Amino acid sequence: MPSDTNTTPNATEKCRAVVLISGSGSNLQAFLDAAADAACDFTVEAVISNKADAYGLTRAKSAGINTEVLSHRDFADRESFDAAMTEVIDAYRPDLVILAGFMRILTPGFVRHYSGRLLNIHPSLLPKYQGLHTHQRALDAGDSEHGATVHFVTEELDGGPPIVQAVVPIEPGDTAETLAQRVLVQEHRIYTLVASWFAQGRLRMVGDRAELDGELLPRSGKRLD
Ligand code: GAR
Repeated sequence: MPSDTNTTPNATEKCRAVVLISGSGSNLQAFLDAAADAACDFTVEAVISNKADAYGLTRAKSAGINTEVLSHRDFADRESFDAAMTEVIDAYRPDLVILAGFMRILTPGFVRHYSGRLLNIHPSLLPKYQGLHTHQRALDAGDSEHGATVHFVTEELDGGPPIVQAVVPIEPGDTAETLAQRVLVQEHRIYTLVASWFAQGRLRMVGDRAELDGELLPRSGKRLD
């Protein structure tokens, strides 16, 4: 991360991010693409998956990024899995830990350890549709709009301070798949934007709110259409 004491022009004190995935990793790809630009304020130091067959691991390897697989099935309980994850993550000295489709419930100890530097993206306009099958639930409810939320992670599942919400209009004939595709495009946009803000030292968690450039953001996050 940029430091006040850093006066050497060539010194690269970028924000070090570690990305956790469980699947396809299209959000991860957005981070890899962003970080490939020399002007980007963050680096992706490692990609960690709880599933050995996650396609995101292939994306990371193609980009020359370190990968680690830690299967939750090899651990007796959530606490021991999260403790092992913490050890692996911390070896990369992250300033920021990014959950990008990491489909595991985290223990309070894990969340506290990374408090204020742990981000998640959820495919709904939180607090609506916490949990799974968000696109189908928005369609079933007859909603006119749907979207995604980037938020700081706290001990409450899908409940930490929202930072940004992208709104996606629901169109006639939408299925969960067509809607998910349009939401994903927005996810990639807002998640990299939020990571850049964090890397630039503009974003922080203050109690149960997110603060950008010294101003508290709305309780539901900054809304981007
Ligand atoms: C994304 O839609 C993300 O919002 C969601 O999983 C998908 C991962 O896609 N996350 C959650 O539902 C977390 N509660 P990706 O692997 O292509 O980035």
